[in-house]
Amino acid sequence: MIGVFDSGIGGLTVLQWIRQRLPQADLLYLADQAFAPYGAKSTELLQQRCDRIADWLIAQGCTVLVVACNTATAHCVDALRQRLPFDIIGVEPGIKPAALGTRSGAIGILATENTLASSRYQQLASRFNPNTCVVNQPCPGLADAIELGPDTEQIDAILTRCTAVMTDAGVDRVVLGCTHYPLVKDRLQRLLGTQVQLIDTGEAIAGEVARRAGSAEWGQGSTRLLTTGSLPRLQQLIGAYPVLSSHFQANQCEPAPDLMDLAQTTGSSSA
Ligand code: DGL
Repeated sequence: MIGVFDSGIGGLTVLQWIRQRLPQADLLYLADQAFAPYGAKSTELLQQRCDRIADWLIAQGCTVLVVACNTATAHCVDALRQRLPFDIIGVEPGIKPAALGTRSGAIGILATENTLASSRYQQLASRFNPNTCVVNQPCPGLADAIELGPDTEQIDAILTRCTAVMTDAGVDRVVLGCTHYPLVKDRLQRLLGTQVQLIDTGEAIAGEVARRAGSAEWGQGSTRLLTTGSLPRLQQLIGAYPVLSSHFQANQCEPAPDLMDLAQTTGSSSA
């Protein structure tokens, strides 16, 4: 079984590619909505949380783990890999394809504050300087707003502010450096214009998962979507975003009672 997790519905944008790529695999997804957003939590809290979730996924029988969250990957994937004898695949902003493809010489990165501030991300970005101008744009509140549902003024306001910086800098590639952001891809494209190419690494991650899946590739093709938050809200969100409703259904959703205790003790703290 392949275990996949994120702070909420963002990682489902990766899961849908994994499902397409590995139709027989049993997939167990954990949306840690009671502890979201990850983008502003301290590294210590994130590590505690990722450790707990990874251990839980393994206890459920997962033999491959996918950290379908740029923020959690940036702060926790190295420690998870050191501690656990399993294949652990993370996600990172697609700076490389953006830098290789740019013609204007300027690329934009949209991500959480925590991802952009991490040393892992800064090392990655430094490989492309000084040849490429990398415009880092944190989007505070965007993942949270996406979790409240599509088509809100709040999403529009954040996207308008973040894309103005990109347009001023003359970028022609914009990296979706948070797995929630593909859910607002169409709006971003409208704001940035068709000359700007959006880079989403979800499909490439699924390719990597397929390469490393081994026997986890062969199961019954089951999909379970668990949340530490409100079950009706997860079901509602899956119905509300077309990219999710075309791949997932409300009857695949369940609560994750085993993981709710830590959400209650530490979920309200943020850095
Ligand atoms: N989807 C996540 C990411 O890729 C985290 C968003 C959040 O919880 O702040 O970074």
